[in-house]
Amino acid sequence: MKNRLVYMIVTVMLCTVLLAGCGKSIDFRGSGKDNSLSSQGPYSGTSVGVCIYQLSDNFMSLFCDELVNYLISQGFSKDNIIVYGSSNDQAVQLSQVEELISRKVDVLIVNPVNSSVAASITELAVLGGIPLVYINREPGAEEESYWEQYDLDVTYVGCDARQSGIYQGELLLDMGQDVLDINKDGKIQYYMIEGAPENIDAGYRTMYSLSTLQNAGLEMDCLLDEVGNWDMTTANLITAKGIAEGRIPEVVIANNDAMAIGAINAFLAAGYMPGRDVFVVGVDALPTALEKVSQGQMLGTVFNDYISQSHNAADAAIRYLNSEKNEHYIGCEYIKVDASNADNIYSIVSAASAGAAK
Ligand code: BGC
Ligand code: CA
Repeated sequence: MKNRLVYMIVTVMLCTVLLAGCGKSIDFRGSGKDNSLSSQGPYSGTSVGVCIYQLSDNFMSLFCDELVNYLISQGFSKDNIIVYGSSNDQAVQLSQVEELISRKVDVLIVNPVNSSVAASITELAVLGGIPLVYINREPGAEEESYWEQYDLDVTYVGCDARQSGIYQGELLLDMGQDVLDINKDGKIQYYMIEGAPENIDAGYRTMYSLSTLQNAGLEMDCLLDEVGNWDMTTANLITAKGIAEGRIPEVVIANNDAMAIGAINAFLAAGYMPGRDVFVVGVDALPTALEKVSQGQMLGTVFNDYISQSHNAADAAIRYLNSEKNEHYIGCEYIKVDASNADNIYSIVSAASAGAAK
């Protein structure tokens, strides 16, 4: 790992010397580019490469739309924002990053397929002299310490998933044990539906939602703990199977809203009424989830503020383009959502999507 970075740094230094010797611009960050198109906006001659782990992901598609929309509002041209979906395949993502680098994009914004692919992506970007902003899926601590150690133009924008797990636990605690313990056996029977394996958000949300409940003195009785891959249909099938096997929970903790909605639909199809027979919490604040929170079918969710995250990511990219530095971790706050503020959050996200649709 260390050798990898030493090699990278030496190579970048060599390239710098050679290019400077040729009398060419050594700035890969846009200032040396032809900005003749810039009459429409300050960055209209600047290109941005965006890679999203999977564009069909409900949350990432909202995130991506907002990111593109915000970049355009900041003066980038839509034609110079190249967005790739990586089909949840790290080999596909690596070849997309290689292609974007060979097309000489000025900056990269990447939602990595997993944290292990990040080392190779960083290496490609640093060797190509292209600043890099990771979003949503945090590369490992070791990887981030190298950005710091070698002062690389690489950063991560995201939230601390521990907070979202704690908020899920608190949303349930707010109901009180008496309400949650429907069968009055002194324990809370629950399903845990997890995101992707080895994903930091999934791991922290699972761990912290549960520990928040346990630390408050609730005895938690797990009836089912399965991976739903962040996906509505998968969670629907998992839940329908659990119900068919007679495992009837009082609580469902889903690592995201898509899976929470999948679970709710399975309960409805089996004749249970979520909000009365079972209490479901998710994360993200997808519009459909907010509607369900307002209607009482879903107990609550946690706003995974893709508006701030996408704007922070674009702002970080812009700072790099202007030869400024960024912190190597740019954080963002989650917001707890229950029936009292669901409508308010709904207006925030619908105003954003109305802007994105323009
Ligand atoms: C979101 C999920 C999404 C995942 C993608 C999480 O932060 O809550 O909905 O599927 O990111 O990485
Ligand atoms: Ca019980």
